[in-house]
Amino acid sequence: MAGPRNSNHRAWWKESSVYQIWPASFKDSNDDGIGDISGIISKLDYIKDLAIDIVWLCPAFKSPQVDMGYDISDYYDIADEYGTVADVDKLIAGCHERGMKFLMDLVVNHTSDQHEWFKQSRSSKDNPYRDWYIWKPAKYDENGNRQPPNNWFCRFQGSVWEWDEHTQEYYLHLYAVEQPDLNWENPPVRKAVHDIMRFWLDKGCDGFRMDVINLISKDQSYPDAPITNPNRPWQWGHMYYANGPRLHEYLQELGEILKDYDAFSVGEMPFVKDEKEVLRAVQFERNELNMIFNFEHVNMDYGKYGQFDPGSLQLTDLKNFFERWQTFMYANDGWNALYLENHDNPRSIDRYAKASEEHGLDASKMLATALALQAGTPFVYQGQEIGMRNVPKSWGIEEYKDLGAVNHWKSLPKDDKEAQAIALVEYQKKSRDNGRTPVQWSAAENAGFTGPGVKPWMSVNTNYTTVNAEAAVKDPHSTYHYWATVLKLRKQYLDTFVYGDFTLLDKPSQEFFAYTRQYDDQKILVLSHWTEKTLDWDAAANGVNTAKQVLLNSYEGTDEALPRFSGDKWTLRPYEAVVLIL
Ligand code: NOJ
Repeated sequence: MAGPRNSNHRAWWKESSVYQIWPASFKDSNDDGIGDISGIISKLDYIKDLAIDIVWLCPAFKSPQVDMGYDISDYYDIADEYGTVADVDKLIAGCHERGMKFLMDLVVNHTSDQHEWFKQSRSSKDNPYRDWYIWKPAKYDENGNRQPPNNWFCRFQGSVWEWDEHTQEYYLHLYAVEQPDLNWENPPVRKAVHDIMRFWLDKGCDGFRMDVINLISKDQSYPDAPITNPNRPWQWGHMYYANGPRLHEYLQELGEILKDYDAFSVGEMPFVKDEKEVLRAVQFERNELNMIFNFEHVNMDYGKYGQFDPGSLQLTDLKNFFERWQTFMYANDGWNALYLENHDNPRSIDRYAKASEEHGLDASKMLATALALQAGTPFVYQGQEIGMRNVPKSWGIEEYKDLGAVNHWKSLPKDDKEAQAIALVEYQKKSRDNGRTPVQWSAAENAGFTGPGVKPWMSVNTNYTTVNAEAAVKDPHSTYHYWATVLKLRKQYLDTFVYGDFTLLDKPSQEFFAYTRQYDDQKILVLSHWTEKTLDWDAAANGVNTAKQVLLNSYEGTDEALPRFSGDKWTLRPYEAVVLIL
């Protein structure tokens, strides 16, 4: 076999694993019902013991919290409910003391409408900040009615354009009305972003997760988007703003700063499926980003008209997705971010494994194995390590907090009970609230997230008496310890798991996900079973008939008897995963 391409460029960020913290729901230290930075500091040992290398903190900056911190009003200060800049200094020091790095969220496609820059910008057409945002005059239809400059659909419903009475122009907001897009064409805007980066890097931050970073360069002609949903006036316009004309120029500028600090970078890249275009951002020597978050697999169960339209997801689709990106990045000196969960997505046990309550923890171990032993940097999202689940099916609309679900609900006709019933089913499957319920720390009241008698800002999932961190830490067979074992195994066989190649076996199977990783003569099989039945895997048909050593078994640990893994057919229990040296 030819020399592995990825190993041409070894890097610490390829070998690391990341733990994502979404502060509102992580841990409340002062009993106000909302998580905070002191709460995070109190759990750093818990994260370190999970064999994590890097802690990523979602936005904790000053914000009106219209979009839970992704609407920033001051990049240099911390929201009162989360703490102070001094607390962040302590958090950074706490990570570093434990040998972990620390990432912040860089949210610079847009700001809050309460940011001083926007207040200035909207104050008059000749204010020096006017060009920091994207302002356009109205269009008028044949009846003389005012219309937005184009027909683009907003991620949170309606048009992306908001009319400003005071200055008689529209401004662009790809996200909420309160999240105006910055104008990256204007050099002072880019300079301001660079300053923010250097400020936090100088404070000891080790890099950034960059929010929707591929949306920063827009097609300057702002054309109408093609009609893909005839049921509404507004249409997805991402072909005109995702990976737009100047994206790579801007990313190269960011790359220069990152290089100065040897900083970590992962950029969100929604809407883009073209491998070559993604590669332009992540190919090692291009010096833009280390890796990106691909969105294909987290959109797979969307229906024709989007997130809350019923859709389905097949294991074969997921496997094809993994194979395509694994082999492409390997061959082209790029790199993958490996993730199944985050604060914008439902819990993976429900979405991908579709497991019953009984088999939830079996499924969570299986998913950890299947994901983290691929080539890429694994990301663990808070609560994933203990097998947290989607919100209860009994939830009514009043329980949902995220503007994604709430605005969608408001967009439904008030008397259309059928549409509302369908929407509630879809929210329970796919809304962002599923990943946002408070972390379940113990079986105590409020799951130990906040003090007794306090009302948490969002309801705790009712399964906390059985699924919680305290129980998981005590139980040596828990998902928490299993995740740590997987992440350590990845380091122990670093050449193979980080720098080796990837081959998908048993492509058509809807029950098994099997792949090998190989580096020089070492070949390791990662076999995972995705159903609640006990099923045979046809090893012989996949050219495998015996294994030399069991490295890991999600049911038994490493003392599993080898003979089970020889012969033509191997029997796997519900959601069992096994890692074998061939
Ligand atoms: C992606 C973030 O993950 C999401 O939570 C947010 O709503 C949008 N970007 C807009 O910032």
